[in-house]
Amino acid sequence: LDPKLAPYSTADPTSFAWQTARQRWPIIITQAIDDAYRTVGSCDAGEKQEEGKKIVAELAELKYEVQHDRALTPIRDDGHPDVAGYNKELEQLGKITWHNAPWLFTECYLFRRISTSFALSTHWKSYDVFARQKIKTFRSSRPAVLELAARYKDLVTQLRAQAPHDPEADALLFAEMCEVCLWGNATDLSLLTSLTYEDIQKLQGSEARRAAEKNILVNDLPQVYAHLQAVKKDKPAGGQQRRVDIVLDNAGFELYVDLILAGYLLSAGLATTVVLHPKSIPWFVSDVLPADFASLLTALADPRTFYETPTEEDTLQGVEPPRLSEAQVEELGFLFAEWSRFHAEGQLVLRPNRVWTGPGSFWRLPGEAGGLVEDLREGELVVFKGDLNYRKLVGDVAWDPTTPFTEAIGPLGPGSGLNVLALRTCKADVVVGLQPGKDEKLKAMEDGGGDSGARKWAWNGKWAVVSFSKGT
Ligand code: F6P
Ligand code: MG
Repeated sequence: LDPKLAPYSTADPTSFAWQTARQRWPIIITQAIDDAYRTVGSCDAGEKQEEGKKIVAELAELKYEVQHDRALTPIRDDGHPDVAGYNKELEQLGKITWHNAPWLFTECYLFRRISTSFALSTHWKSYDVFARQKIKTFRSSRPAVLELAARYKDLVTQLRAQAPHDPEADALLFAEMCEVCLWGNATDLSLLTSLTYEDIQKLQGSEARRAAEKNILVNDLPQVYAHLQAVKKDKPAGGQQRRVDIVLDNAGFELYVDLILAGYLLSAGLATTVVLHPKSIPWFVSDVLPADFASLLTALADPRTFYETPTEEDTLQGVEPPRLSEAQVEELGFLFAEWSRFHAEGQLVLRPNRVWTGPGSFWRLPGEAGGLVEDLREGELVVFKGDLNYRKLVGDVAWDPTTPFTEAIGPLGPGSGLNVLALRTCKADVVVGLQPGKDEKLKAMEDGGGDSGARKWAWNGKWAVVSFSKGT
């Protein structure tokens, strides 16, 4: 049931898939090896350490297979039923090798393969081989975290003050919160192989955000706001539930801005419940696992310990992390109090599902995950965060870039009963919903790809699309 167009392939030198398979995947696996190796080193001799060594060896073997363009082999049965789906699809694809395979399937397969090595152990089952990287980057996003905490406290306090609301200001605030949430996606760790921490910090501040507005190529936020307001009128407070779902992408700073959006929607009465959908296995390096949600709240609960305890690196360089001011501690404490209250009262819910770490596009959801789609239909809006979710929505095939978003998401489009909003910074080839001529103009810009056939402008998270499809 996938779109009837060619999927992006790792064999296509003009696709970002090409360098992803040859350069980025080996780096990602190397980072996983380094992490597991480090943990093995700190284990006491015994069963856990032996298992750890085996995992490291398996990861090294996987890296070898990727670098030497070996065939993809069936995933070992690790007790989770999704293995069958992966292997069935692999069989249907025939003999594929790492450098000549559909990009989307192969990248999902890579992370599923990594997960198997851990799942088959006794002591490493719930080990997240990317957790260290996630925490480290979150810590380095401190300036933007503090800036947003102050802004959030301020606006929630204003919302509570019940002063007569200015409709225009309300609409602007909605757009600002969504844009904060959108650009939080520009900083995922799978791209960190090419960005420095300084680059990332630049991407996160409020000045950067204002400057970046012109980089939102499609912006359907006014329609989304109108939709949520109409729903609110239909189902006033005290009455029925109004739920917004967020299919999460990355942990750390992006999860932080997702919670900013979620908290704002609840405080502004644009939703009565927000359901967050994390992943169930370590995924695309930085995606959110339930444990990442817990660690974020823990960091906010005691920000001094989180930010002021010197890291190993700090100690090596003989530097002390700067202290937080009383006001900053207070602002972070405000976020913690708000979000943990929403969570405790059931207005902010975490709902993992293995469907999100399957091998295929979301065109398959109605057929393969009917229960999940049924559940999502009960909400008013489903927000899909990030690049991978967007690729899955549109099937990661070579659409003409002027194809309407509503068409490119196939069975999740109009008539599906789902109101879909994609908040995506572009980090892959596929893009839809552009004005005629826009792709050509972007390609003609410096590093845009020119007439090489490559859509380079869409690879680095600098441009974004905010696309909405109404389900009725
Ligand atoms: O840079 C490309 C990539 O690794 C894609 O494979 C993937 O879609 C994306 O990054 C992950 O980004 P995000 O976290 O926004 O989904
Ligand atoms: Mg991600």
